[in-house]
Amino acid sequence: MTNILVTGASKGIGRSIAEGMQTLGSVFVSGRNEEALKSITAKDYCICDLAQTPEILGDFIEKNNIDILINNAGEYIYGSIEKMTLEEIERIHRTNLIAPAYLISRAVPYMKRNKFGRIINIGSISGVMGEANASLYSSSKAGLLGLTKALALELAEFNITVNTINPGWVDTELGNESIEQSEFTKEEIIDCIPQKRFVAPEEITNLVKYLISNEARGITGQGINLCAGLSVGI
Ligand SMILES: NC(=O)c1ccc[n+]([C@@H]2O[C@H](COP(=O)([O-])OP(=O)(O)OC[C@H]3O[C@@H](n4cnc5c(N)ncnc54)[C@H](OP(=O)(O)O)[C@@H]3O)[C@@H](O)[C@H]2O)c1
Repeated sequence: MTNILVTGASKGIGRSIAEGMQTLGSVFVSGRNEEALKSITAKDYCICDLAQTPEILGDFIEKNNIDILINNAGEYIYGSIEKMTLEEIERIHRTNLIAPAYLISRAVPYMKRNKFGRIINIGSISGVMGEANASLYSSSKAGLLGLTKALALELAEFNITVNTINPGWVDTELGNESIEQSEFTKEEIIDCIPQKRFVAPEEITNLVKYLISNEARGITGQGINLCAGLSVGI
């Protein structure tokens, strides 16, 4: 039986992915909001603040022999670089980049023994293109792309694939709060998106389903933009 872990499953994209995985294996979820995690159908859940104590989720991964790891949890922060404190710089990178790398390090020994693994990180188009006043978010998400390419090479012989999905604007709490923090209205942002719409969480879920399937076993080391055309120009 395939064991799937989705981080940041309490809401938004992670919740959609966790719900979409139900028929594909045993689903495990994690996040900080216990009530929300309890409301998802899952084999088990793990409460863990990835900025503080990722070891808790690392132990959970080892205990449950996770062979599909979806590193989805993430935090956005808006503001000019001179306003960012050391605590914020560390927190964003801990949650968005250090924790995914650490969780992969805990999942890979079992995947190697089992000669099968699928690792999918949820990056962002802001890590591909850069986003003014979101430099910490951009750098943490760009880091996932380097991690993805190097690990794809390192793990290829073990039948483990590693990919990162880079969403554009997605209609979730994070997506809508990041607009509220910015100097733009939702209408102005939609106007800059070639398809004139936000991506739906279910579109990310469908791509995750494809990437973990046997049909996609040749896709590894890739950053795949799912952004309604945002990355190719205006
Ligand atoms: N929405 C967008 O427009 C957009 C665009 C590009 C990329 N993304 C990426 O997609 C992923 C999911 O975003 P979303 O839009 O679904 O956001 P969301 O609705 O705000 O959900 C974020 C999830 O991450 C978890 N999380 C955040 N910080 C955490 C921490 N320190 N420790 C443990 N869990 C933590 C939250 O857990 P709790 O609620 O339980 O605390 C929640 O489950 C993120 O990596 C985000 O960067 C989103």
